[in-house]
Amino acid sequence: MTPVKTEVLPFSPESAEKAAEIMAAGGVVGIPTETVYGLAADARNKAAVHSIFEAKGRPQDNPLIVHISAIEQLTPLVREIPELALRIAGRFWPGPLTMIFPKSDVIPQATSGGLDTVAVRMPRSPAARAIIDACGFPLAAPSANLSGSPSPTTAQHVLRDMDGRIPLIIDGGECDCGVESTVLCFPAADRVRILRPGGVTAEMLSELCAVDIDPAVTSEPPKGAKVLSPGMKYKHYSPKAEVFIVNAHGERFRDWCLAHEKGRTLALSADPVEHGMFRCFGTDVQAQAHRLFALLREADDEGAQTVYVEIPSKDGIGLAVYNRLLRAAAFRVVEADE
Ligand code: TXA
Ligand code: MG
Repeated sequence: MTPVKTEVLPFSPESAEKAAEIMAAGGVVGIPTETVYGLAADARNKAAVHSIFEAKGRPQDNPLIVHISAIEQLTPLVREIPELALRIAGRFWPGPLTMIFPKSDVIPQATSGGLDTVAVRMPRSPAARAIIDACGFPLAAPSANLSGSPSPTTAQHVLRDMDGRIPLIIDGGECDCGVESTVLCFPAADRVRILRPGGVTAEMLSELCAVDIDPAVTSEPPKGAKVLSPGMKYKHYSPKAEVFIVNAHGERFRDWCLAHEKGRTLALSADPVEHGMFRCFGTDVQAQAHRLFALLREADDEGAQTVYVEIPSKDGIGLAVYNRLLRAAAFRVVEADE
């Protein structure tokens, strides 16, 4: 691809307009959302969507999420909206939640990765909403990282990965959530299946309906297995260091890490006191979600060869943290008494 000059502008009504002009002409722009930054383009425009895949270096069979700013914008994109989807949208949209529907012809195969379905989300971030409004069309946007590296939660992270690849990044500050949206589908009228956990948690959804969690969320899909969410089959979110989840807490975690130092080693723990190799990962799951991807990038900046992470709680947004960590760690979970 031909290198371009990448501009970073703080979010404002004017910069939103500029982003909209670029995307109306088929270009790609880095945009803030409440989950992670996205790499956005006109979801209806095949060529524009191809440019996203090119900028990211992403496999073409991995479908993109389509972003809207009002519920009326959903109807033209899909062939059918389950009643349960409307109830869930009423409660959790705008927010970090993506739902999968049978797609209409408005959505090209390029956007849906060749699938007959489309994933749709209405973000909560005022900047994201203003940008979608300025465009007046739905935006396809995967996370704005190079394929395989940790998702970006600041405009600086996007610039690191996308400098020279896209013309504009809108800086909306640090993302609130820090992990990508919950992705779900509708296997039956009264139940949902979580394909990727995120900010709208299983606990929150279970107030409205029955909730299944896809086995791929917490375990490695068998080789060659068909996975419902293609993104789950790729190695993901990986820093250059080897990451291990360590099943221990407190002093046992610290002792184990000290005894297993391997090259330049960092240890991410829930303990707020930072010393030597130990960094605070966040004292609760919310804080851990917020810091996870930035910490994985910092590990690279510090030249870490090994990263040990204290196993997070799987409650609430903790399940999303655990799911992303499992992939960063290539599913290596070690028992501290080994
Ligand atoms: O929070 C988010 O969702 C962010 C921000 C930018 O909105 N976007 C994001 O997109 O995380 P991406 O492309 O990095 O991840 C999309 C995930 C992938 O795991 C993909 O396989 C799945 O959603 N997905 C998309 N369309 C799908 C479909 N039709 N059926 C099943 N899974 C789908
Ligand atoms: Mg991604």
